Amino acid sequence: MANNALFVFVFLVAVVASALAVFFAMIVHEHDETGEKSTSNKAVQYVCPPTDFKETCEKSLASSNSSDPKVLITTGFQAMIMEIKKVLADSKTLQDALSVCKEVLDYAIDDLEASFNKLGVYDISKIGDILLRIQATVYNEKVDIPKGANNVMFIRDGPTKTIITNNISVVKNKITTFHTATVAGNAMNFIAKDIGIEKTTGYEGEQAVALRASGDLGVFYNCHFNGYQDTLYPQKEMQFFRDCVITSTIDIIFGDSRVVFQNCQMIVRKPGPRQNCMVIAQGKQFDKSRGGFVLHNCTISGDKDYIPVKNVNKAYLNRPWKPLATVIIIQSNIADIFTPEGYIPMHPGMGEATSYFVEFGNRGPGSKTDGRVKWAGIKQVDLNTAKTFTPGAFLQSNTRIPNTGVPCTPDRIPGL
Ligand SMILES: *[C@@H]1O[C@H](CO)[C@@H](O)[C@H](O)[C@H]1NC(C)=O
Ligand SMILES: *[C@@H]1O[C@H](CO)[C@@H](O)[C@H](O)[C@H]1NC(C)=O
Ligand SMILES: *[C@@H]1O[C@H](CO)[C@@H](O)[C@H](O)[C@H]1NC(C)=O
Repeated sequence: MANNALFVFVFLVAVVASALAVFFAMIVHEHDETGEKSTSNKAVQYVCPPTDFKETCEKSLASSNSSDPKVLITTGFQAMIMEIKKVLADSKTLQDALSVCKEVLDYAIDDLEASFNKLGVYDISKIGDILLRIQATVYNEKVDIPKGANNVMFIRDGPTKTIITNNISVVKNKITTFHTATVAGNAMNFIAKDIGIEKTTGYEGEQAVALRASGDLGVFYNCHFNGYQDTLYPQKEMQFFRDCVITSTIDIIFGDSRVVFQNCQMIVRKPGPRQNCMVIAQGKQFDKSRGGFVLHNCTISGDKDYIPVKNVNKAYLNRPWKPLATVIIIQSNIADIFTPEGYIPMHPGMGEATSYFVEFGNRGPGSKTDGRVKWAGIKQVDLNTAKTFTPGAFLQSNTRIPNTGVPCTPDRIPGL
């Protein structure tokens, strides 16, 4: 692309971003818990961002004479589109650029208009720095937060009140596990608080991901992830889960993020006939990967529907998905639902010698390790090594997590 064309493109992307960000600022405002009604003046602050279009925007809003946020948003938005078209028509430089990529540009404007027209709370392509306060209800949705839409935050007042769910699965939709995610967080700094993310497929759907997290520094607080197989997929980069509940059957948590689960509950639910349940299928494959799962002060137990079938449908803590599977379970409470062996191969022999599995300082009847399989990959560590797996040491995130307002105990918990 020629330089000028590139300039136009960047310019448009910036406009798209600010227009959409404005819209979401309004959603936040509309759903503000205070119940305060928007006034025209307040709305103008939200609607007219500090961009080149600020003046046009404010002028057109003033003439709209409305206090309905939707009317104001529409007016402000249309003014911005008009302005873009005007700038394009007036500018010789831009016209030259246009001859190079007029199509791209038209498409971008169409896209802008189309996305505005169909905007729901979940259409969040191309925006950053936003907070989505989602209404308390059950949404049948698929949400992709694309790469680059950094700093998106989902927040609502309870993981059993606001639920995002769907029935997309490998079996039903003939797609790969990766593409099944109800919510896919591909952008950096994604935060979700107080929300439920589910699959309602039943075990028949087989693999069906509730959340896939692949952007760096994801933080998940007081969230529920419910599903049946492959429910939680911390795929890569760094993630932190605190006070979350994960309920599922096979390979409940799988992937290769560098992740700490602190004060979370992993609950094995009743699987399909002849199915066994595995809590973790860690997927570290290459030496250079920094992936590894740490469970710190978590509770791993069985749902009440699972207890009666636990001798038929066996439960295991781990099965290595890839040869270098890395899982550290420390200071956690393990219920009496697991086979004493605790571990089972995914493919015969794979990972038995090359994985890195640690259980240290755990409690509860399932924490006894003397019946565990005798794999070279199961390591005995001392206290100093165990300390390197606490969130402070393992995630080295001294600012990111505190800045989100999500609680985190960085060190070993005394007395446990
Ligand atoms: C603008 O709003 C005022 C007050 O609500 C109203 O009296 C007036 O008729 C409106 N003007 C137009 C052009 O809609
Ligand atoms: C998923 O399928 C089940 C069973 O067919 C149905 O009860 C449920 O309502 C569906 N959920 C959604 C979100 O479509
Ligand atoms: C550890 O987990 C238990 C629940 O099992 C909880 O009551 C306790 O507050 C947690 N400790 C810390 C320091 O967060």
